[in-house]
Amino acid sequence: PVTAYPRQDGDMAVGGIGLAKLAERFGTPLHVMDEEDVRRRCRAFTRAFPEADVAYAGKAFLCRVMAGWIASEGLSLDVCSAGELAVARTAGFPARKVLMHGNAKTPDDLRAALSYGVGRIVVDSFSEITRLAAMAAGGTTPRPRLMVRVTPGVDGHTHEAISTGTDDQKFGFSLASGAAAEAIQRVIAQRRLELVGLHCHIGSQITDLDAFDLSARRMIGLLAAVRDAHGITLPQLDLGGGFGVPYREGDPELDPQALADRLHRVLREACDENRLPVPKITIEPGRAIAARAGVTVYRVVSVKHAASGGLLVAVNGGMSDNPRPGLYGARYSVRLIGRKSLGGDRTATVVGRHCEAGDVLVKDAQFPADIRPGDLLAIPCTGAYHHSMASNYNLVPRPPVLAVREGRARLMIRRETEEDLLRRDAG
Ligand code: LLP
Repeated sequence: PVTAYPRQDGDMAVGGIGLAKLAERFGTPLHVMDEEDVRRRCRAFTRAFPEADVAYAGKAFLCRVMAGWIASEGLSLDVCSAGELAVARTAGFPARKVLMHGNAKTPDDLRAALSYGVGRIVVDSFSEITRLAAMAAGGTTPRPRLMVRVTPGVDGHTHEAISTGTDDQKFGFSLASGAAAEAIQRVIAQRRLELVGLHCHIGSQITDLDAFDLSARRMIGLLAAVRDAHGITLPQLDLGGGFGVPYREGDPELDPQALADRLHRVLREACDENRLPVPKITIEPGRAIAARAGVTVYRVVSVKHAASGGLLVAVNGGMSDNPRPGLYGARYSVRLIGRKSLGGDRTATVVGRHCEAGDVLVKDAQFPADIRPGDLLAIPCTGAYHHSMASNYNLVPRPPVLAVREGRARLMIRRETEEDLLRRDAG
């Protein structure tokens, strides 16, 4: 899972630069993104799915430089708010290659999407269909192109908080209850809206190919039902993202080519059975593109001996830059970097700086006995859903994000300052 590799002096290099050197120059905590790794993973998807539309899910990590990499690799972009859309727009991301998602898109989100002319809006509620029809009626823009988000009733066997394919959660229109069929009928009935296809997304950090297989079959079944009911063969099917990555050595991984092989077979079979042409497929990987490119560097602030005998190693970041252990029980590996050490034989818990006992980054770390304040730690696999989920809890400024490539570093997002934090305080 780790793109970084160890060097002689105990440092770790990413994109040809030692992390300790970057920490000296840019300070800590620090997020570092390996541009080549992002690009390589984009290509793995476009190679495995040559006929599909691969849309990067910007919620994993988005800024203008990242949007530029995604565009130059020929991917589309999935955004889920006017804010993400503003990044895409100001990066010059082609509007027709943008899809907009969200279970509760606000009128502002929808207005932004329509005025930029995004390629597709994935509708997620009856009120959204009504709202879009009203907005489209007043405008002279071409008809908004919509997909209907369907909940196929598939359990992806992932953490409950990121499982979105089953009926009892907030996303999409249930296939089983008939809500999906009703939503499709309502969009078709709106002359000012164009229905281009169906969408589903069964969840995130999924490594079970059977779950994708089952949802693809159900969605083809629904496309056939739409044809039978309305005489319309919808041209597109978006199967969402959710492709799992290994956070630690030995964790399962979902290979894009294996996924593509399975999906191509399933789609061909299901379409043959239903006498349908294979629709144009979209997939929406976020984590699988961004996660492994990222590594976060922290500085150790204090070391304590826990009553149990283990070490408590506190760093200068924590749940404000990585809320995933707290939210999903996510587990990471961690390494001491930047100095020679004789190997790790002490069990330690890496904790953050925030005012909660639950602010734990890594539970079962191994460090040398002489680990001390001032040491640098690196936590790999932090490129997705880390900076994008960062907060200012305890009024801690958010870390910068650096891009590294061929021995050069450039700032993609600068470090937040106390001034940034105070600027919003209206008192
Ligand atoms: N498409 C849709 C409609 C989505 O909702 C998502 C993620 C994706 C694509 C991309 O999923 P990915 O390929 O990245 O798994 N904060 C959580 C993950 C939330 C995922 C939300 N939706 C985490 O840190 O694990």
